[in-house]
Amino acid sequence: MASFSSSRWSPDLPRSVPYIYLDNAATSLPKPPGVAKAVGDAILRAGNPGRSGHALSIRSARDLFAARESLAEVFGCADSSRFVFSENATFALNQAIKGVLRPGDHVVTTSVEHNSVMRPLRRMEEAGVRVTVVPAGKDGVTEARDMIGAFREQTRLVVIVHASNVSGALQPVEDVVAAAHRRGILTLIDAAQTAGSLPIDLSSLPVDLLAASGHKGLLGPQGTGFLFVREGVPIVPLIEGGTGSRSESDHQPEFLPDALESGTQNSVGVAGLAVSLSWILRKGVETIRRREIVLVDLLLQGLSRMPGVMVYGPADPARRGSAVSFRVEGMDPAEVGMRLEKRGGVLVRAGLHCSPNGHRALGTFPAGTVRVSPGPFTTRAEIATFLSSLRKIRDSSA
Ligand SMILES: Cc1ncc(COP(=O)(O)O)c(C=O)c1O
Repeated sequence: MASFSSSRWSPDLPRSVPYIYLDNAATSLPKPPGVAKAVGDAILRAGNPGRSGHALSIRSARDLFAARESLAEVFGCADSSRFVFSENATFALNQAIKGVLRPGDHVVTTSVEHNSVMRPLRRMEEAGVRVTVVPAGKDGVTEARDMIGAFREQTRLVVIVHASNVSGALQPVEDVVAAAHRRGILTLIDAAQTAGSLPIDLSSLPVDLLAASGHKGLLGPQGTGFLFVREGVPIVPLIEGGTGSRSESDHQPEFLPDALESGTQNSVGVAGLAVSLSWILRKGVETIRRREIVLVDLLLQGLSRMPGVMVYGPADPARRGSAVSFRVEGMDPAEVGMRLEKRGGVLVRAGLHCSPNGHRALGTFPAGTVRVSPGPFTTRAEIATFLSSLRKIRDSSA
Protein backbone atom coordinates (compact mmCIF):
# COMPACT_ATOMS: atom_id res chain seq x y z
CA MET A 1 0.00 0.00 0.00
CA ALA A 2 1.27 3.48 -0.85
CA SER A 3 2.48 5.49 2.09
CA PHE A 4 0.26 8.23 3.38
CA SER A 5 1.25 10.52 6.20
CA SER A 6 -1.01 10.88 9.23
CA SER A 7 -3.86 13.36 9.34
CA ARG A 8 -2.61 14.39 12.80
CA TRP A 9 -1.48 17.94 12.66
CA SER A 10 -1.89 20.98 14.82
CA PRO A 11 -3.79 23.77 13.16
CA ASP A 12 -3.50 27.13 14.85
CA LEU A 13 -6.34 26.47 17.25
CA PRO A 14 -6.38 26.46 21.06
CA ARG A 15 -5.69 22.80 21.71
CA SER A 16 -2.57 21.09 22.95
CA VAL A 17 -3.42 17.68 21.47
CA PRO A 18 -3.80 17.44 17.68
CA TYR A 19 -7.28 17.14 16.27
CA ILE A 20 -8.45 13.99 14.57
CA TYR A 21 -10.26 15.18 11.49
CA LEU A 22 -13.05 12.84 10.41
CA ASP A 23 -15.16 15.28 8.41
CA ASN A 24 -13.74 14.75 4.94
CA ALA A 25 -17.24 14.43 3.46
CA ALA A 26 -17.73 18.14 4.24
CA THR A 27 -14.28 19.22 3.08
CA SER A 28 -10.99 17.35 3.09
CA LEU A 29 -8.18 18.01 5.57
CA PRO A 30 -5.28 17.98 5.51
CA LYS A 31 -4.48 18.78 1.91
CA PRO A 32 -1.58 16.99 0.18
CA PRO A 33 1.90 18.48 0.52
CA GLY A 34 2.42 21.48 -1.73
CA VAL A 35 -1.23 22.59 -2.00
CA ALA A 36 -0.99 25.40 0.57
CA LYS A 37 2.29 26.59 -0.91
CA ALA A 38 0.83 26.61 -4.42
CA VAL A 39 -2.07 28.77 -3.20
CA GLY A 40 0.31 31.09 -1.33
CA ASP A 41 2.61 31.40 -4.33
CA ALA A 42 -0.28 31.94 -6.74
CA ILE A 43 -1.79 34.79 -4.77
CA LEU A 44 1.51 36.66 -5.02
CA ARG A 45 1.50 36.52 -8.81
CA ALA A 46 -2.16 36.06 -9.78
CA GLY A 47 -2.78 37.99 -12.95
CA ASN A 48 -6.28 37.66 -14.39
CA PRO A 49 -6.28 34.39 -16.35
CA GLY A 50 -7.14 34.68 -20.04
CA ARG A 51 -7.65 38.44 -19.91
CA SER A 52 -4.36 40.15 -20.65
CA GLY A 53 -1.42 39.03 -22.75
CA HIS A 54 1.18 39.75 -20.09
CA ALA A 55 3.31 37.25 -18.23
CA LEU A 56 1.26 37.08 -15.02
CA SER A 57 -2.05 36.67 -16.84
CA ILE A 58 -0.55 33.86 -18.91
CA ARG A 59 0.88 32.24 -15.78
CA SER A 60 -2.58 32.11 -14.13
CA ALA A 61 -4.13 30.79 -17.33
CA ARG A 62 -1.51 28.02 -17.25
CA ASP A 63 -2.58 27.06 -13.73
CA LEU A 64 -6.16 26.68 -14.95
CA PHE A 65 -4.99 24.67 -17.93
CA ALA A 66 -2.81 22.36 -15.82
CA ALA A 67 -5.68 21.60 -13.44
CA ARG A 68 -8.10 21.08 -16.32
CA GLU A 69 -5.72 18.63 -17.98
CA SER A 70 -5.31 16.74 -14.71
CA LEU A 71 -9.09 16.59 -14.22
CA ALA A 72 -9.40 15.06 -17.68
CA GLU A 73 -6.75 12.49 -16.77
CA VAL A 74 -8.31 11.61 -13.40
CA PHE A 75 -11.71 11.07 -15.06
CA GLY A 76 -10.54 9.35 -18.26
CA CYS A 77 -11.57 12.00 -20.76
CA ALA A 78 -9.45 12.95 -23.78
CA ASP A 79 -10.78 16.54 -24.02
CA SER A 80 -10.04 18.74 -21.02
CA SER A 81 -12.14 21.62 -22.40
CA ARG A 82 -15.25 19.68 -21.33
CA PHE A 83 -14.37 20.42 -17.67
CA VAL A 84 -15.78 23.75 -16.54
CA PHE A 85 -14.55 25.24 -13.27
CA SER A 86 -17.03 26.39 -10.65
CA GLU A 87 -16.69 27.57 -7.06
CA ASN A 88 -18.17 24.34 -5.67
CA ALA A 89 -20.35 21.38 -6.58
CA THR A 90 -23.49 23.36 -5.78
CA PHE A 91 -22.88 25.86 -8.57
CA ALA A 92 -22.01 23.07 -11.00
CA LEU A 93 -25.23 21.19 -10.15
CA ASN A 94 -27.33 24.34 -10.50
CA GLN A 95 -25.68 25.07 -13.85
CA ALA A 96 -26.41 21.57 -15.09
CA ILE A 97 -30.02 21.43 -13.87
CA LYS A 98 -31.07 24.96 -14.83
CA GLY A 99 -29.05 24.91 -18.03
CA VAL A 100 -30.71 21.80 -19.42
CA LEU A 101 -34.32 21.75 -18.21
CA ARG A 102 -37.22 23.60 -19.85
CA PRO A 103 -40.95 23.87 -18.98
CA GLY A 104 -42.74 20.62 -19.78
CA ASP A 105 -39.64 18.49 -19.14
CA HIS A 106 -39.73 15.59 -16.70
CA VAL A 107 -36.87 14.68 -14.33
CA VAL A 108 -36.20 11.48 -12.42
CA THR A 109 -34.10 11.64 -9.27
CA THR A 110 -33.63 9.80 -5.97
CA SER A 111 -34.86 10.45 -2.45
CA VAL A 112 -31.29 10.65 -1.17
CA GLU A 113 -30.15 13.76 -3.03
CA HIS A 114 -28.37 16.67 -1.41
CA ASN A 115 -30.20 20.01 -1.22
CA SER A 116 -27.91 21.30 -3.96
CA VAL A 117 -29.90 19.01 -6.29
CA MET A 118 -33.32 19.07 -4.63
CA ARG A 119 -33.59 22.84 -4.24
CA PRO A 120 -32.83 23.70 -7.87
CA LEU A 121 -35.22 20.93 -8.93
CA ARG A 122 -37.98 22.35 -6.72
CA ARG A 123 -37.27 25.77 -8.23
CA MET A 124 -37.61 24.28 -11.71
CA GLU A 125 -40.97 22.76 -10.72
CA GLU A 126 -42.25 26.32 -10.32
CA ALA A 127 -41.22 26.86 -13.95
CA GLY A 128 -43.28 23.87 -15.18
CA VAL A 129 -40.79 21.02 -14.85
CA ARG A 130 -42.16 17.79 -13.38
CA VAL A 131 -40.03 15.87 -10.91
CA THR A 132 -40.30 12.22 -9.89
CA VAL A 133 -38.41 11.37 -6.70
CA VAL A 134 -37.75 7.62 -6.55
CA PRO A 135 -37.64 6.37 -2.95
CA ALA A 136 -34.53 4.62 -1.66
CA GLY A 137 -34.70 1.53 0.53
CA LYS A 138 -33.97 1.48 4.26
CA ASP A 139 -30.26 0.98 3.48
CA GLY A 140 -30.21 4.25 1.53
CA VAL A 141 -29.80 2.49 -1.84
CA THR A 142 -32.13 3.33 -4.73
CA GLU A 143 -32.97 0.41 -7.02
CA ALA A 144 -32.01 0.92 -10.68
CA ARG A 145 -35.21 -0.79 -11.81
CA ASP A 146 -37.31 1.72 -9.86
CA MET A 147 -35.51 4.64 -11.46
CA ILE A 148 -35.71 3.15 -14.94
CA GLY A 149 -39.41 2.36 -14.33
CA ALA A 150 -40.01 6.07 -13.67
CA PHE A 151 -38.77 7.12 -17.15
CA ARG A 152 -41.49 8.66 -19.33
CA GLU A 153 -41.71 10.02 -22.82
CA GLN A 154 -41.06 13.57 -21.55
CA THR A 155 -38.15 12.55 -19.32
CA ARG A 156 -35.33 14.89 -20.21
CA LEU A 157 -32.91 14.33 -17.34
CA VAL A 158 -31.99 11.82 -14.65
CA VAL A 159 -30.10 13.22 -11.66
CA ILE A 160 -28.42 10.74 -9.36
CA VAL A 161 -25.96 11.10 -6.53
CA HIS A 162 -23.03 8.71 -6.83
CA ALA A 163 -22.72 8.11 -3.08
CA SER A 164 -25.10 9.51 -0.49
CA ASN A 165 -23.41 12.03 1.80
CA VAL A 166 -25.59 10.70 4.65
CA SER A 167 -25.60 6.89 4.51
CA GLY A 168 -22.58 6.62 2.23
CA ALA A 169 -24.62 4.23 0.05
CA LEU A 170 -23.44 3.94 -3.54
CA GLN A 171 -26.28 4.38 -6.00
CA PRO A 172 -26.65 2.24 -9.17
CA VAL A 173 -25.24 4.91 -11.47
CA GLU A 174 -23.86 2.56 -14.13
CA ASP A 175 -27.18 0.77 -14.75
CA VAL A 176 -29.26 3.96 -14.62
CA VAL A 177 -26.91 5.91 -16.89
CA ALA A 178 -26.77 3.04 -19.41
CA ALA A 179 -30.58 2.71 -19.52
CA ALA A 180 -31.09 6.47 -19.84
CA HIS A 181 -28.42 6.68 -22.55
CA ARG A 182 -30.23 4.01 -24.59
CA ARG A 183 -33.44 6.06 -24.35
CA GLY A 184 -31.75 9.37 -25.26
CA ILE A 185 -32.34 10.78 -21.76
CA LEU A 186 -29.65 13.07 -20.37
CA THR A 187 -27.93 12.06 -17.14
CA LEU A 188 -26.29 14.11 -14.39
CA ILE A 189 -24.19 12.50 -11.65
CA ASP A 190 -23.54 14.32 -8.40
CA ALA A 191 -20.04 13.02 -7.67
CA ALA A 192 -19.38 15.36 -4.73
CA GLN A 193 -18.74 12.39 -2.42
CA THR A 194 -16.81 10.20 -4.83
CA ALA A 195 -14.63 12.34 -7.12
CA GLY A 196 -11.02 11.54 -6.24
CA SER A 197 -11.83 8.67 -3.90
CA LEU A 198 -13.65 6.27 -6.22
CA PRO A 199 -12.59 5.55 -9.80
CA ILE A 200 -14.87 7.22 -12.40
CA ASP A 201 -14.06 6.58 -16.05
CA LEU A 202 -15.84 8.92 -18.45
CA SER A 203 -14.50 6.98 -21.41
CA SER A 204 -16.68 4.00 -20.49
CA LEU A 205 -19.51 5.60 -18.47
CA PRO A 206 -21.74 7.45 -20.97
CA VAL A 207 -22.90 10.09 -18.47
CA ASP A 208 -23.68 13.50 -19.98
CA LEU A 209 -23.00 15.76 -17.01
CA LEU A 210 -20.98 15.21 -13.86
CA ALA A 211 -20.55 17.71 -11.04
CA ALA A 212 -18.12 17.61 -8.12
CA SER A 213 -16.37 19.70 -5.51
CA GLY A 214 -12.65 20.38 -5.78
CA HIS A 215 -12.32 20.69 -2.00
CA LYS A 216 -13.53 17.21 -0.91
CA GLY A 217 -12.04 14.01 -2.38
CA LEU A 218 -10.06 15.98 -4.96
CA LEU A 219 -8.19 17.48 -1.98
CA GLY A 220 -8.04 21.01 -3.35
CA PRO A 221 -8.87 24.34 -1.70
CA GLN A 222 -12.38 25.55 -0.94
CA GLY A 223 -13.80 27.70 -3.72
CA THR A 224 -13.09 25.04 -6.35
CA GLY A 225 -15.37 22.60 -8.15
CA PHE A 226 -16.26 21.58 -11.69
CA LEU A 227 -18.91 20.47 -14.13
CA PHE A 228 -18.11 17.97 -16.88
CA VAL A 229 -20.28 18.47 -19.97
CA ARG A 230 -20.12 15.82 -22.67
CA GLU A 231 -19.78 17.02 -26.23
CA GLY A 232 -23.15 17.65 -27.88
CA VAL A 233 -25.09 18.24 -24.66
CA PRO A 234 -27.14 21.41 -25.13
CA ILE A 235 -26.69 23.60 -22.06
CA VAL A 236 -27.53 27.26 -21.51
CA PRO A 237 -25.16 29.25 -19.24
CA LEU A 238 -26.49 30.25 -15.85
CA ILE A 239 -24.45 33.43 -15.99
CA GLU A 240 -22.89 35.28 -18.91
CA GLY A 241 -20.23 37.94 -19.14
CA GLY A 242 -16.53 38.40 -19.66
CA THR A 243 -14.65 35.32 -20.76
CA GLY A 244 -11.55 36.95 -22.24
CA SER A 245 -12.51 35.37 -25.58
CA ARG A 246 -14.62 36.76 -28.49
CA SER A 247 -14.57 40.14 -26.73
CA GLU A 248 -15.80 41.86 -29.90
CA SER A 249 -19.21 40.19 -29.51
CA ASP A 250 -21.97 40.99 -27.02
CA HIS A 251 -23.05 37.35 -27.19
CA GLN A 252 -21.61 34.62 -24.99
CA PRO A 253 -19.15 32.31 -26.78
CA GLU A 254 -20.63 28.88 -27.45
CA PHE A 255 -17.49 26.79 -27.03
CA LEU A 256 -16.39 25.19 -23.75
CA PRO A 257 -15.06 25.94 -21.27
CA ASP A 258 -15.63 29.66 -22.01
CA ALA A 259 -19.41 29.31 -22.53
CA LEU A 260 -19.83 28.31 -18.88
CA GLU A 261 -16.92 30.19 -17.28
CA SER A 262 -17.86 33.85 -17.09
CA GLY A 263 -16.03 36.34 -14.92
CA THR A 264 -12.62 36.13 -13.30
CA GLN A 265 -11.85 32.54 -12.38
CA ASN A 266 -10.43 31.39 -9.05
CA SER A 267 -6.93 30.86 -10.43
CA VAL A 268 -5.46 31.00 -6.92
CA GLY A 269 -7.62 28.13 -5.65
CA VAL A 270 -7.22 26.21 -8.89
CA ALA A 271 -3.41 26.49 -8.59
CA GLY A 272 -3.81 24.50 -5.36
CA LEU A 273 -6.21 22.09 -7.04
CA ALA A 274 -3.63 21.46 -9.78
CA VAL A 275 -1.20 20.27 -7.10
CA SER A 276 -3.74 18.07 -5.31
CA LEU A 277 -4.77 16.50 -8.63
CA SER A 278 -1.14 15.71 -9.42
CA TRP A 279 -0.85 14.06 -6.01
CA ILE A 280 -4.00 11.99 -6.71
CA LEU A 281 -2.66 10.97 -10.12
CA ARG A 282 0.62 9.86 -8.53
CA LYS A 283 -1.11 7.83 -5.80
CA GLY A 284 -3.89 6.54 -8.06
CA VAL A 285 -7.60 6.75 -7.28
CA GLU A 286 -7.74 2.94 -6.97
CA THR A 287 -5.09 3.04 -4.23
CA ILE A 288 -6.97 5.78 -2.37
CA ARG A 289 -10.19 3.79 -2.71
CA ARG A 290 -8.58 0.59 -1.37
CA ARG A 291 -7.22 2.51 1.59
CA GLU A 292 -10.54 4.17 2.38
CA ILE A 293 -12.36 0.83 2.15
CA VAL A 294 -10.06 -0.54 4.87
CA LEU A 295 -10.81 2.46 7.09
CA VAL A 296 -14.55 2.30 6.46
CA ASP A 297 -14.50 -1.41 7.25
CA LEU A 298 -12.75 -0.70 10.57
CA LEU A 299 -15.39 1.92 11.35
CA LEU A 300 -18.29 -0.36 10.44
CA GLN A 301 -16.91 -3.26 12.45
CA GLY A 302 -16.11 -1.12 15.47
CA LEU A 303 -19.46 0.64 15.48
CA SER A 304 -21.50 -2.51 14.89
CA ARG A 305 -19.86 -4.16 17.94
CA MET A 306 -20.93 -1.29 20.20
CA PRO A 307 -24.24 -1.96 21.98
CA GLY A 308 -26.69 0.92 21.64
CA VAL A 309 -25.12 2.20 18.43
CA MET A 310 -27.12 2.03 15.18
CA VAL A 311 -25.19 2.25 11.90
CA TYR A 312 -26.91 3.22 8.64
CA GLY A 313 -26.26 2.28 5.04
CA PRO A 314 -24.93 -0.94 3.46
CA ALA A 315 -22.87 -3.25 5.71
CA ASP A 316 -20.43 -4.00 2.87
CA PRO A 317 -17.79 -1.24 2.56
CA ALA A 318 -17.48 -1.98 -1.17
CA ARG A 319 -21.07 -0.74 -1.57
CA ARG A 320 -20.37 2.61 0.04
CA GLY A 321 -18.36 5.76 -0.23
CA SER A 322 -16.33 6.94 2.74
CA ALA A 323 -19.07 8.48 4.88
CA VAL A 324 -20.49 6.45 7.79
CA SER A 325 -23.56 7.62 9.70
CA PHE A 326 -24.59 6.35 13.11
CA ARG A 327 -26.68 7.15 16.16
CA VAL A 328 -26.23 6.42 19.84
CA GLU A 329 -29.40 5.26 21.56
CA GLY A 330 -30.84 7.91 23.86
CA MET A 331 -28.41 10.64 22.75
CA ASP A 332 -28.89 13.60 20.46
CA PRO A 333 -26.45 13.32 17.50
CA ALA A 334 -25.42 16.96 18.03
CA GLU A 335 -24.44 16.16 21.61
CA VAL A 336 -22.42 13.13 20.51
CA GLY A 337 -20.56 15.29 18.00
CA MET A 338 -19.86 17.95 20.61
CA ARG A 339 -18.60 15.41 23.15
CA LEU A 340 -16.36 13.72 20.58
CA GLU A 341 -14.63 17.03 19.99
CA LYS A 342 -14.35 17.89 23.68
CA ARG A 343 -13.21 14.48 24.83
CA GLY A 344 -11.00 13.23 22.04
CA GLY A 345 -10.50 16.18 19.69
CA VAL A 346 -12.40 14.13 17.11
CA LEU A 347 -14.08 16.33 14.52
CA VAL A 348 -17.21 14.89 12.89
CA ARG A 349 -20.46 16.31 11.53
CA ALA A 350 -23.82 15.80 13.24
CA GLY A 351 -27.30 16.75 12.02
CA LEU A 352 -29.03 16.62 8.65
CA HIS A 353 -26.00 17.15 6.37
CA CYS A 354 -28.01 19.34 3.92
CA SER A 355 -29.91 16.22 2.92
CA PRO A 356 -33.23 16.03 4.78
CA ASN A 357 -34.61 13.54 2.26
CA GLY A 358 -31.61 11.28 2.77
CA HIS A 359 -32.47 11.21 6.46
CA ARG A 360 -36.18 10.63 5.80
CA ALA A 361 -35.16 7.61 3.71
CA LEU A 362 -33.16 6.22 6.64
CA GLY A 363 -35.79 7.15 9.24
CA THR A 364 -33.35 9.53 10.97
CA PHE A 365 -35.21 12.80 10.29
CA PRO A 366 -35.31 15.35 11.96
CA ALA A 367 -32.45 14.83 14.47
CA GLY A 368 -30.17 13.34 11.85
CA THR A 369 -27.09 11.27 12.57
CA VAL A 370 -23.45 11.59 13.49
CA ARG A 371 -21.35 11.28 10.34
CA VAL A 372 -17.74 10.14 10.37
CA SER A 373 -15.80 10.46 7.13
CA PRO A 374 -12.16 9.41 6.86
CA GLY A 375 -9.92 10.65 4.07
CA PRO A 376 -6.70 9.49 2.43
CA PHE A 377 -4.58 10.77 5.33
CA THR A 378 -6.64 9.14 8.09
CA THR A 379 -4.80 6.41 10.00
CA ARG A 380 -6.07 3.21 11.63
CA ALA A 381 -4.90 4.62 14.96
CA GLU A 382 -7.18 7.63 14.49
CA ILE A 383 -10.14 5.36 13.80
CA ALA A 384 -9.27 3.44 16.99
CA THR A 385 -9.11 6.68 19.01
CA PHE A 386 -12.47 7.76 17.63
CA LEU A 387 -14.03 4.39 18.53
CA SER A 388 -12.64 4.44 22.06
CA SER A 389 -13.80 8.05 22.59
CA LEU A 390 -17.27 7.09 21.40
CA ARG A 391 -17.32 4.05 23.68
CA LYS A 392 -16.55 6.25 26.67
CA ILE A 393 -19.20 8.79 25.71
CA ARG A 394 -21.78 6.04 25.33
CA ASP A 395 -20.79 4.40 28.65
CA SER A 396 -20.95 7.70 30.51
CA SER A 397 -24.46 8.38 29.23
CA ALA A 398 -25.80 4.85 29.93
C1 LIG B 1 -23.70 14.74 -2.28
C2 LIG B 1 -23.34 16.19 -2.26
N1 LIG B 1 -23.70 16.98 -3.28
C3 LIG B 1 -23.38 18.28 -3.32
C4 LIG B 1 -22.67 18.87 -2.31
C5 LIG B 1 -22.33 20.32 -2.40
O1 LIG B 1 -20.93 20.47 -2.49
P1 LIG B 1 -20.27 21.90 -2.33
O2 LIG B 1 -20.17 22.17 -0.87
O3 LIG B 1 -18.92 21.76 -2.99
O4 LIG B 1 -21.14 22.88 -3.02
C6 LIG B 1 -22.27 18.10 -1.21
C7 LIG B 1 -21.55 18.70 -0.08
O5 LIG B 1 -21.50 18.21 1.00
C8 LIG B 1 -22.60 16.73 -1.20
O6 LIG B 1 -22.23 15.93 -0.18
